[in-house]
Amino acid sequence: MEVVIRPNADAATDLVARVIARELRDNPRLVMGLATGRTMESVYARLVQMHREEGLDFSACRTFNLDEYVGLSSNHANSYRHYMNHHLFLQVNIDLQNTHLPDGMAADLVAECANYERLIAGNGGIDLQLLGIGQNGHLGFNEPLSALRSRTRVKILSPVTRAQNVPLFPRPDLVPHRAITMGVGSILDCRGCILLATGEEKAAIVAKAVEGPITSMISATALQLHPECTLILDEAAGSQLKESDYYHWVFENQPEWEPFRAVSSPIAKSGFQAKRQLEKQSVEAMSDVLE
Ligand code: GLP
Repeated sequence: MEVVIRPNADAATDLVARVIARELRDNPRLVMGLATGRTMESVYARLVQMHREEGLDFSACRTFNLDEYVGLSSNHANSYRHYMNHHLFLQVNIDLQNTHLPDGMAADLVAECANYERLIAGNGGIDLQLLGIGQNGHLGFNEPLSALRSRTRVKILSPVTRAQNVPLFPRPDLVPHRAITMGVGSILDCRGCILLATGEEKAAIVAKAVEGPITSMISATALQLHPECTLILDEAAGSQLKESDYYHWVFENQPEWEPFRAVSSPIAKSGFQAKRQLEKQSVEAMSDVLE
């Protein structure tokens, strides 16, 4: 896990968008895992801007969203399909056929979940998973006690999660009680993941997710098990981390972050790929020394 703390929400959001853009430029057929929530809105706005101003091309990429409410149709204003169409898909040159969310209206929800897993696997798995974090530390809708090896399934939303989502609905009682969500195990299968958290209200849960023990009570702690996971935070969301000086030091000194340290710099070579290449080079250099 790596933790990058940027001075403010705009800078954190911009960094996330630039990493995604670079991965997409390196691999136009990228399979992206996407997230929803208020935090992601500005990431999508930035990607839309990059599409318009820099020609960022979404035509060949494929997307899988983390979750969808049970009982909301795709054209319901509060469905995540509607959110994604509105904030990203209809504003860029993505092929809607390549965008996937679970169907919360499926007659057989169990079959729908199994099918979603098959669809992801059939597309070669997720290259880059974008994540937010709920107030209780959920990823997607993996509520407390979600098994660390769980797969896509239906979850009951906790009172905390329903309360967190009330402002997005016309009335509190309209917040659905259930959602289909990729499991913690499904998320951990992705090749790389980036979690974005901004704002003071995320500080306590971020500190637990990064520096606390791994527990199914907080699904985000499972990210400590992922070999290619980066948390990108603003100062406020990172304000309760004990080791923030160390995280700053890593960001300032890790070669792979070089192109991203300046506020605005050309899109550089693939992040995860570059990191793997650097690791390979160090192993080779080490072997040369030992020979
Ligand atoms: C919902 C989504 C999560 C997301 C969370 C964060 O619960 N299911 O995937 O991480 O919202 O929301 P916000 O960015 O609004 O804090």
